Amino acid sequence: MSQIKAFLFDLDGVIVDTAIYHYQAWKRLANELGFDISEEFNERLKGVSRTESLDLILAHGGLTLPDEKKAELAAQKNEWYLELVSRMNSDDILPGVATFFSQVRKAGLQTALGSVSKNAPLILERIGMTQAFDAIIDGTKISKGKPDPEVFTKGADELEVNYNECVVFEDAVAGVEAGKQAGMFVVGLGSADVLTQADLVASSLENLTVAEVLARAE
Ligand code: G6P
Ligand code: MG
Repeated sequence: MSQIKAFLFDLDGVIVDTAIYHYQAWKRLANELGFDISEEFNERLKGVSRTESLDLILAHGGLTLPDEKKAELAAQKNEWYLELVSRMNSDDILPGVATFFSQVRKAGLQTALGSVSKNAPLILERIGMTQAFDAIIDGTKISKGKPDPEVFTKGADELEVNYNECVVFEDAVAGVEAGKQAGMFVVGLGSADVLTQADLVASSLENLTVAEVLARAE
């Protein structure tokens, strides 16, 4: 038994649906290189860093490129991604997030963002949610992406709570694995068939209450 003190949230696919924009930008890049990536393949890219995603995509297309060229491609993808997200605003916050966060505050829990994205602070600004987090861990603060637990253990460290006092909210297979490796209770948001390692699965935050999560995690 442990007393839960903090909720740690992934960004893409949990708070906001930027996963679709990452997919569109990567698909455009793959197409320019002469091949395609499917939505099914894209599942493997969720929660994975920019450089690791590019490596997976190039391997998928059977291409081996020098580091210099890879850096160029990663920058190109990011440019397209930034174009896509530049029009985002608070209307893009996923259903149920605002209600869930007001319950989180009422319950006296701390919050952290745990995202591998280097663009996470920019996205939070655009949707007006920077102040909703007591700690923000993004791709610039970590050396290892998910499924490594670093992004979540750093969040807990910054909040000064123990790892078993944290609940992670994740939509990606790699993110669920990261939360489990950190020794945390993990709520998977999506399909139970995909997020098999999660301790609890709901289709989104809209279908979940803080009380339900605490009852299961404590
Ligand atoms: C998140 C997304 C990934 C993305 C990664 C890096 O984890 O789920 O799809 O590749 O962030 O994002 P960035 O904005 O730094 O390219
Ligand atoms: Mg995600």
